[in-house]
Amino acid sequence: MDIEFRDSPETGSPRIVARIVEQDKLPGDLPLTIAEGAKATRFTGKAGQVFDGFADENGKLVRLALAGSGKKDTESRHAALEKAGAALAAKYLTSGESEIALDAASSGLDASETAAVLMGARLRSWRWDHYRTKLRDEQKRTLTKVVVIGAPDGAKAEWEDAQAVATGVEFTRELVAEPANIIYPESFVERCAKRFEGTGAELVVLDDAEMEKLGMGALLGVGLGSERPSRMLAIKWMGGAKDEAPIAFVGKGVTFDTGGISLKPGPGMEDMKWDMGGAGAVAGAMLALVLRKAKANVIGVCGLVENMPDGKAMRPGDVITSMSGQTIEVLNTDAEGRLVLCDALTWVQNEFKPARIVDLATLTGAMLVALGSEHAGVFSNNDDLADDLLHAGKQSGDKLWRFPLAPEYDKLLDSPIADMKNIGGRYAGSITAAQFLGRFIENDTPWAHLDVAGMVWADKPGATWDKGATGYGVRLLDRFIRNTVKG
Ligand code: BES
Ligand code: MN
Ligand code: ZN
Repeated sequence: MDIEFRDSPETGSPRIVARIVEQDKLPGDLPLTIAEGAKATRFTGKAGQVFDGFADENGKLVRLALAGSGKKDTESRHAALEKAGAALAAKYLTSGESEIALDAASSGLDASETAAVLMGARLRSWRWDHYRTKLRDEQKRTLTKVVVIGAPDGAKAEWEDAQAVATGVEFTRELVAEPANIIYPESFVERCAKRFEGTGAELVVLDDAEMEKLGMGALLGVGLGSERPSRMLAIKWMGGAKDEAPIAFVGKGVTFDTGGISLKPGPGMEDMKWDMGGAGAVAGAMLALVLRKAKANVIGVCGLVENMPDGKAMRPGDVITSMSGQTIEVLNTDAEGRLVLCDALTWVQNEFKPARIVDLATLTGAMLVALGSEHAGVFSNNDDLADDLLHAGKQSGDKLWRFPLAPEYDKLLDSPIADMKNIGGRYAGSITAAQFLGRFIENDTPWAHLDVAGMVWADKPGATWDKGATGYGVRLLDRFIRNTVKG
């Protein structure tokens, strides 16, 4: 979606002019046909509602759209404005129209409010149509541009900054939407290499042999059954103070999870192409930070493997040695995410000495049972870090809910033969997974684990996404950095 700023609606051609209106406060200057039409169709200006109609303006027929932004002065004002922009994009995406104009002036929007509407429009209009060669005309996307007229001072600069984040969200969605025959560990790295070229970010890549040398028996164990070699990717952005320790983001990048020898049932297995959603969010968040030249030192690490059943694959009962030296009895090869993450966590601590660590992973089905698709779970050894994340979650709309970590859960991981087993019992599955990861955090480094299993993919369109990849996590991590790292 292109966004263009213009001074007046006269130059250029958009046929649809959109105004954002507050709930229960239809502006007094609307043409009669619009005001009456809106009333007659029960348009009240609730966030996400759209009404459009035609009006005669000085002998010229114009099409006017009203998009509701809910009540003003609420905490969720920006989310509501995004919803308004998103609703406009959804309505006209395949309408045959190629442009709409957003009348910022008569909508009474300030700079950040204008940017919020644009953000909603841009995010909601993203689609991945690469493999659709037979779309009928009426299914094809036509809307490609929003022209902003009468933008307030500073709106353009606000948008410059926001659109870096939108680009990050879109990159995450692309990685997540791509099927597993296209995105596998090596091609994930290649796609990142291309996207980050010339941005000033530095990419570090480890192949199987290098990881072997470092002793990453857990991550490599997961990849044993796959024809695809595994990779560790670090994206480094040192835009902050010279000697400041970086923040580390660590993502689970299982590019396909069959379960391995503990094979998953067939129905729904296709969903496991998005088992790299944590790594996808890390890559997209790094892109957002790099494009907006964030004044922060941040390392994004992606542990990339494919979990397949094969003659070379790990067996249930195998004992493996992680990079930390701790041994793990693998009782279920489908609990592979924690095996990938534990070595990624050890590596990031050894290599980069981060001040704080946040990992993101589609780690457990139990998280979906607990929270559905409205919140991701957050587990942390540090209350300040948890609070910072919860706050960023509220602000960004990528919502979080905190779950406990406690030593009492540890005994569920006891193994008769090794330091731990890779599954707990039947209950508290998301917590025991987090508890497992906690064993790889050294010196009480502040660490948070986000179980995003319910968030990276949507079966239905949402506020700012169509069904499919949501891009969850990018805006959360971007907001977290904005709030917590001060140049
Ligand atoms: N990737 C899955 C978790 C998952 C399931 C994410 C459904 C999204 C939707 C993970 O690797 C897994 O298989 N976890 C197992 C763990 C169990 C074997 C302890 C699970 O949740 O069943
Ligand atoms: Mn699994
Ligand atoms: Zn998995």
